[in-house]
Amino acid sequence: MTIRALHVASELYPLLKTGGLADVTGALPPALIELGADVRVLLPGFPSVLAGLADLKPVARLERTFGAPEATLEQGTLAANGVIVYVLRADAFYERPGNPYLDAQHVPYGDNAQRFALLGWCAAQLAQHLDPAWAPQIVHAHDWHAGLAPAYLRAAERERGRPLAKSVFTVHNLAYQGVFPAQQFGMLGLPSDFFGIDGIEFYGQMSFLKAGLYFSDRLTTVSPTYAREIQTLAQGGGLHGLLRQRMHDLSGILNGVDYTVWRPSTDTLLPARYTDTRLAGKRACKTSLQARFGLPQKSDVLLFGVVSRLTEQKGLDLLLAALPEIIRRGGQLVVFGTGDPALETGLQRVAQTHPESVAVELGFDETLAHAIIAGSDVVAVPSRFEPCGLTQLYALAYGTLPLVHRVGGLADTVVDASLENLADEAATGFVFDRFEPEALAAAIRRAFALYARRSEWKATQQRAMREDFGWSTSAGRYLALYRELV
Ligand code: ADP
Ligand code: GLC
Repeated sequence: MTIRALHVASELYPLLKTGGLADVTGALPPALIELGADVRVLLPGFPSVLAGLADLKPVARLERTFGAPEATLEQGTLAANGVIVYVLRADAFYERPGNPYLDAQHVPYGDNAQRFALLGWCAAQLAQHLDPAWAPQIVHAHDWHAGLAPAYLRAAERERGRPLAKSVFTVHNLAYQGVFPAQQFGMLGLPSDFFGIDGIEFYGQMSFLKAGLYFSDRLTTVSPTYAREIQTLAQGGGLHGLLRQRMHDLSGILNGVDYTVWRPSTDTLLPARYTDTRLAGKRACKTSLQARFGLPQKSDVLLFGVVSRLTEQKGLDLLLAALPEIIRRGGQLVVFGTGDPALETGLQRVAQTHPESVAVELGFDETLAHAIIAGSDVVAVPSRFEPCGLTQLYALAYGTLPLVHRVGGLADTVVDASLENLADEAATGFVFDRFEPEALAAAIRRAFALYARRSEWKATQQRAMREDFGWSTSAGRYLALYRELV
């Protein structure tokens, strides 16, 4: 039996991306389709989404708009793989260029509750044949932006007195909870008893994330370790109680890599291409990266790269605390990212102090992200917490050894270059346990030590490049979950 599933999210690569969520929503649906599922996606009609889809055509008019003058549903296809995307068009809400959640001052839009309630409501409407030609059996909602979809679905089922569709909610990051004042609950049009501890209420306010966690039939998150971590007081973001209650409905399914986008032998965004057995192109990528960032073009210095959202989560403050370890040993550091203004200026200041060894550039650019993953020797991901993390997986594929904190998906995907792991031919990177400068500095020292033993470095690179983190295994797990439900 073919299963029909609707993925509901706010971003999707290559249409719109602020982080790894877009990589997942861009790659998981086609991977599920490959396995025989009938999968479509629902996205808000942000300008780049409308501009990036082929054959857009109207599907239906929405009768509820949450205050927008009008809202319609359109449908288009993704040029790269033919996946069908529904676009929720409400220009008053979504026709805003730039970041989908924040205004130019980095402040969340004042009408975010309405903007994303409409998204969730529209998903529930699709389960009620808003499109006469197609209705999902599974509504698969991602992160708080889509957190109300399961709630509206539950409300509609109660009203109609029969089941409509099953829901799956995937947590990509428990730190973003979609919290809004309780006064806004009335405008959501949900049954009044949904506002309560058994529902959307969260410490006197409401949380769209909690709604997703409470009302969905099944919960997943993006790595097995993170699935365990979020059930603890320390890392549950105030939701560990609910997550523990639902532990039998919760599973950790590791993200994958879309190798049609991230493979060094075919990557047209790189200055040169390479494979695990022909690494000359990687050296060319390194020289080109050093030139691009104005660093001395030496092939034998150890070059650390960072491509990251600049937020507290990513632990770059710890990297700066351990920076002397890199500089003293003659290493170089390239940082590329955007985010928190205080972190941005802090990083720029460090680059000004050490122009010979540290270069920082602010911005968001896919080509430069590929150039750094390919041209660096080590990609550093010292995150405080990391639900899955994709940059370390991309780094592995590019023979760039990841240096990571042992948390979340980082713990599940990188094997430390300890003596015993090297002897077992298992090492793929550098892993530190305690979130402290000394622990990170020790991992940095391990990287320098391995780099000095060139043949072992190369063997580790090749092992990293030969690992397979393709989507098919994980897509199979999601499909098994859907099958259990329908
Ligand atoms: P998160 O989703 O928490 O940001 P992930 O590691 O899962 O972390 O995914 C990050 C994704 O965003 C990767 O595809 C990475 O290449 C990309 N990315 C992060 N910062 C930038 C940037 N400044 N420019 C381009 N891509 C970026
Ligand atoms: C989130 C997490 C990241 C994860 C990504 C995709 O943004 O921070 O760890 O890889 O979602 O699931």
